[in-house]
Amino acid sequence: MLMVPKLKSKKKHKAIAVLTSGGDAPGMNAAIRAVVRYSLGQGCAVFGVQKGYSGLLDGEIHPLKASSVANIIQRGGTMLKTDRCDEFYKRTARKQAAEMLRRKGIDGLVVIGGDGSFTGANLLENETGFPTIGIPGTIDNDICETDETIGFDTAVNTAIDAIDRIRDTATSHDRTFIVEVMGASAGFIGLSVGIGGGAETIVLPEKRDSIESICKKIERGVKRGKSSSIIVVAEGPEPGLGARIGRDILKHGFPSKVCILGHTQRGGSPTAHDRLLASILGASAVAFMLGGHSNAMVGVRKNEVALIPFSKIIGKRKKLPDELLELAHALST
Ligand code: F6P
Repeated sequence: MLMVPKLKSKKKHKAIAVLTSGGDAPGMNAAIRAVVRYSLGQGCAVFGVQKGYSGLLDGEIHPLKASSVANIIQRGGTMLKTDRCDEFYKRTARKQAAEMLRRKGIDGLVVIGGDGSFTGANLLENETGFPTIGIPGTIDNDICETDETIGFDTAVNTAIDAIDRIRDTATSHDRTFIVEVMGASAGFIGLSVGIGGGAETIVLPEKRDSIESICKKIERGVKRGKSSSIIVVAEGPEPGLGARIGRDILKHGFPSKVCILGHTQRGGSPTAHDRLLASILGASAVAFMLGGHSNAMVGVRKNEVALIPFSKIIGKRKKLPDELLELAHALST
């Protein structure tokens, strides 16, 4: 079972700040709540930064009380709002951010986000000595060295729910449906949704089937008496791949309907799994920070909370498990 590490508070942190950055993910609110309440319980004040790194530069930093995070655990999105901040790529901006935090009496920063957000946190700490800890929050589950990220489970459940509905109409009309799911550079959502939704074909950024092989699979299904099928396509770097595949298979005589799930997968109430994960990782991030650790992310490895240095994660590509790829292949034939 996942558990918050029991660490002795080494450093006397007076106040920490928390922000969410990059694409929002269901469960970010649960993580913010855990950071705030666990920190206050340890006698450390907490500030919320609005709109990610942009808010840090604009000084949008406000104290949070236990009641500030009441009634948010079940909400999707992020109460702190989020942003992708190009300005933070500049060294001068990071210096300014550290000065801003120190001026407010803050001596630690918790960043909830993905790879880009952790790159900012890592540079901030390396250049200014300001302690940072990351919590993996992205529906894509594409962060190395952690088995899970907050929001992935909810996104997969949302997409599978949509596929179940699509299958009802696909079966009724004897149609092929192409369902495009999120995943700009990683196929974790596509693979899980494809397996869990019983897709006949799964197209991922890491494994692009040719149009000929997609058509062959549909044909094989038809020969076996199947009159409808579901093709799950991860959007890849340019959304709209589902429609492009739809056009291409039509040229081979296979008409289809295309459904792009898009941002529906990013919203909605987090699953119980994501709420629990977010609560445990949020509290763990604070426990590690108050224990004197920083420049690292809290993650999950083999069902245990782990602290992984940013340097081991940033810019690295997380590999899809071969076993799951093999399973997807075995079950769809
Ligand atoms: O949050 C991750 C992700 O959803 C990707 O799968 C997707 O390609 C991207 O973000 C879209 O982000 P935005 O809507 O912010 O451009």
